[in-house]
Amino acid sequence: MNAATLRFGSAVRRRVDAAVDHIPGAIRERAAAVTSVPPAPRQRITASMARSCESVAITRVMGRSAFRSRSEQWPARLGSRAVKVDSFWPPQRGLRRFAAEYYQRKHPDAPWLSKEGIEMLSDLLRDSDTCLEYGSGTSTAWFGRRVSKILSAEHDPSWFERVQGQLGAFGLPRDAVRLLSLEPREHPEQSPYVRLVDEFADGELTFCYVDGEYRPACIRAAIPKLASGGLLVLDDAHGVLDHPTFSPHSRAGLGPLDAEWGAIVEQLRAWRMLWASDGYSDAAIWIKP
Ligand SMILES: C[S@@+](CC[C@H](N)C(=O)[O-])C[C@H]1O[C@@H](n2cnc3c(N)ncnc32)[C@H](O)[C@@H]1O
Repeated sequence: MNAATLRFGSAVRRRVDAAVDHIPGAIRERAAAVTSVPPAPRQRITASMARSCESVAITRVMGRSAFRSRSEQWPARLGSRAVKVDSFWPPQRGLRRFAAEYYQRKHPDAPWLSKEGIEMLSDLLRDSDTCLEYGSGTSTAWFGRRVSKILSAEHDPSWFERVQGQLGAFGLPRDAVRLLSLEPREHPEQSPYVRLVDEFADGELTFCYVDGEYRPACIRAAIPKLASGGLLVLDDAHGVLDHPTFSPHSRAGLGPLDAEWGAIVEQLRAWRMLWASDGYSDAAIWIKP
């Protein structure tokens, strides 16, 4: 680590310490729940840690260059503090949001998913995949170009027409997106929207992307349809699942959003899960055993 990096690091540490001192007690308690990172004297930031909460927090405080220098030594204590401050530091939130929106502007045809999520799915998807999507958008044509079959459920008529246009522009079948009713609202699992899943036989589905309405019902309906090794992806997972992330409205340390989401966590407990976050929006990617 060179002298300039050290000077920069200590300046940031002073800023972080000062910010922590000014956080009101209640927010501090909430912040303490956000992280379970124990303070450690010094730790080497490895590639795997770089994907974990603490090193991402360092990245957010230090700026992008910290990711590039993740093999250098950073004080882990600063990392754990940074997680706490970062969650409640509006400028950091603004920067993360700006970065996420900038990425979307640069990739107008990509799904509304974090850069990390898009990269993971780019690696995971196979051209033999059969895909069901709940909540259509630019993702529909993006997935459609990468899988052998896609069906997408949409409830909004104007959005539906827009997505049909996008599918046509990419030479994909316009009927890959279906305009479907959300009724009866008191029994979402009976709605044509959720029941689009019945177009697939049990074990036929290899990729289900949940990014629309009735998310718990969609997940429950997709589980038996997914093949072993199939992917179940939930966008904006940070708002409903307890995971150590500092994206806005994160449930970190608070438990699942409600009993329905708690039951889904239990149902998926044996599944491997990947977590994709840009610090602004998160997606959970489960792999069926
Ligand atoms: C988060 S969007 C789905 C995005 C899509 N899966 C993607 O990643 O590109 C979920 C739903 O929001 C609705 N939606 C989003 N933006 C909209 C807009 N500008 N006008 C109308 N509906 C919109 C649509 O009904 C859509 O199904």
